[in-house]
Amino acid sequence: MSTNKPDRSAGREPPLPPSSKSIGANGLKQTPANRALNPEMTPHEVFRKRAVKRRAFYADRRHLVFNDPVEDALRFLKKHEIEVDCIVTSPPFYGQRDYGFEGQIGLEKHPREYIKRLMQVFDLCLPVLKKTGSLWVNLGDTYWSGKGATKSGEKKQPARRFGIRPQDKPGDGIWTKPKQLLLVPHRFAIAMQDAGWLVRNDNVWIKPNPIPDQVRDRCSISHEYVFHFTKERWYYFNRHIVGREMPSGSTMPPLDTWQIPPSRGAKGHKAAFSEELVRIPVLATTPPQGIVLDPFAGSGTTLGFASKHGFRSIAIDMKPEYCEQTVKLLKGVSSGD
Ligand SMILES: C[S@@+](CC[C@H](N)C(=O)[O-])C[C@H]1O[C@@H](n2cnc3c(N)ncnc32)[C@H](O)[C@@H]1O
Repeated sequence: MSTNKPDRSAGREPPLPPSSKSIGANGLKQTPANRALNPEMTPHEVFRKRAVKRRAFYADRRHLVFNDPVEDALRFLKKHEIEVDCIVTSPPFYGQRDYGFEGQIGLEKHPREYIKRLMQVFDLCLPVLKKTGSLWVNLGDTYWSGKGATKSGEKKQPARRFGIRPQDKPGDGIWTKPKQLLLVPHRFAIAMQDAGWLVRNDNVWIKPNPIPDQVRDRCSISHEYVFHFTKERWYYFNRHIVGREMPSGSTMPPLDTWQIPPSRGAKGHKAAFSEELVRIPVLATTPPQGIVLDPFAGSGTTLGFASKHGFRSIAIDMKPEYCEQTVKLLKGVSSGD
């Protein structure tokens, strides 16, 4: 893997000068694959529109933070024709946390309803993502327990336990029965395929030091998924920036298994992911001057990383405290902290 040092020029490289008719602005022959490597840039003006600045929780020349329900903010981006190059996100996982606000995602009674809700969100991402764009979704799985409310567990894991979780209730006896791994990530990916998205990878995030599972009759879970979806067959992908250098001098794409230690809430958000997790998604699928969107931005990890690497970015989160954290992070990046 290449280094994680910020390369502030990554998002700012100017396009190559245009040449002959069959050769495009990126200096390559005009095939559909090569055209996708030089997507049209979303104009800087969209960040300066009065209506956009008025609605945003925070706005500067390169960043927008929206403190809104995710669906509303995505509709707003569509209305203002703001198109992004790359979406990297980690929605609330099923039954894992109570973020403490009405309309939050993740506490639906049945996993079927959860997947339906996620699908509504990603349907709204379709018009906001460029044809050449990529969507990366981090998801982990959940077991059904059916045990009712926990008694002692609450004290041990106050951040994770919140009274009765959906999976503690009696289930339907099929998907949702005690000890069942719900296969939420798999069901979600299949639903996305059915909705027309192309599944390019089900990358596996391997956690070298997972939180121990309190079980004796199965293997301990030590992975999550980072699905890579595209809208079209031809899309922007810069394998050179994230690839593996071979002894022959050629560059192979990165592997689909990523060993990354979890961030463990270090950033004041219970479910923040580490910057390393967004490295391949952001660097490989955001062109120079591109825009990265995180529709469940939390503490702003995706935006912080994108900004350090010279990209423009947009965050959405329902919790004002998290939006505040994102703004702080962005201001720190621009002041060089
Ligand atoms: C798993 S966390 C994202 C963490 C983030 N990747 C980070 O590094 O901090 C999911 C986020 O989704 C937000 N969220 C949940 N339901 C939402 C909704 N309906 N609209 C907007 N945000 C929502 C939560 O506030 C939470 O911050």
